Amino acid sequence: MKTAIITGASAGLGREFVLGARDNFKDIESFWVIARREEKLREYIDLLPGKDVKILAMDLCNEANFDIIADILKANEPDVRLLVNNAGCGYLGNVGEGDWKKQTRMIDLNLRALTAITHLVIPYMSSGSKIINVSSIASFCPNPRMTVYSSTKAFVSSFNRGIADELKSKGISATAVCPGPMNTEFIYKGKIKGNSKTFEILPYCEPKKVVAGAYRAAKLGRTVYTPTAFYKFYRVLAKVLPQSVMINFTRT
Ligand SMILES: NC(=O)c1ccc[n+]([C@@H]2O[C@H](COP(=O)([O-])OP(=O)(O)OC[C@H]3O[C@@H](n4cnc5c(N)ncnc54)[C@H](OP(=O)(O)O)[C@@H]3O)[C@@H](O)[C@H]2O)c1
Repeated sequence: MKTAIITGASAGLGREFVLGARDNFKDIESFWVIARREEKLREYIDLLPGKDVKILAMDLCNEANFDIIADILKANEPDVRLLVNNAGCGYLGNVGEGDWKKQTRMIDLNLRALTAITHLVIPYMSSGSKIINVSSIASFCPNPRMTVYSSTKAFVSSFNRGIADELKSKGISATAVCPGPMNTEFIYKGKIKGNSKTFEILPYCEPKKVVAGAYRAAKLGRTVYTPTAFYKFYRVLAKVLPQSVMINFTRT
């Protein structure tokens, strides 16, 4: 069955990725939606009429769940046309202060889960299939006070570029999506809202538009998609200026 697998599907950008896939990839017959909150995932049964909806309510910080995903893939042998690695978290705070578990949680979810799922799903993809890895403008340059988060997103963008090359011969594309701040649960859960001058000043991206642009870029086989002229300019600046200069302006 032609399948889309979308992580972090219960809220924010992930929800827009699911609804956007319904409208942009009409041939997809089955949606595998992954997040912890089952009740939110169940809403897709009504939102995706006529489609098969597989609800995978699981914590992607728990490695044992990767074996479960591997087993479900083996049992169903889906024809995965679209994989969106969207689940992610980001916490404000200097390294060495506060709860260490928040620092390593960003690595578990943003890196380990994304890597494991991509590795497991690729064998079920074929020519024309698309991978979208949700990165961030934080991947362009380290962001003090969100050092671990920006480092995880640097990994995501670098990982994406590497697999895009590896998968070229198979006709599978990989696109890193690099939005600026968005008004989702992310900025509340990470205690960013109200505690970061940068997040007060920067222009916000609209999740629906980010998803529309991401799907356009994926269809064109682009390796990176950065929404809005403002953040495209920031990406160029971060490429041409040394990080020792950039870092004076990138504190979160
Ligand atoms: N918002 C921003 O300012 C911003 C800017 C740039 C990039 N991004 C990136 O955009 C992506 C989506 O973020 P968002 O803004 O939409 O945030 P969000 O509203 O907090 O959504 C995060 C999603 O990830 C899921 N998730 C969190 N922890 C999980 C876990 N342990 N296991 C499984 N699923 C988990 C959440 O579902 P459950 O809670 O139900 O598990 C939710 O569906 C992330 O990769 C983020 O880094 C966000």
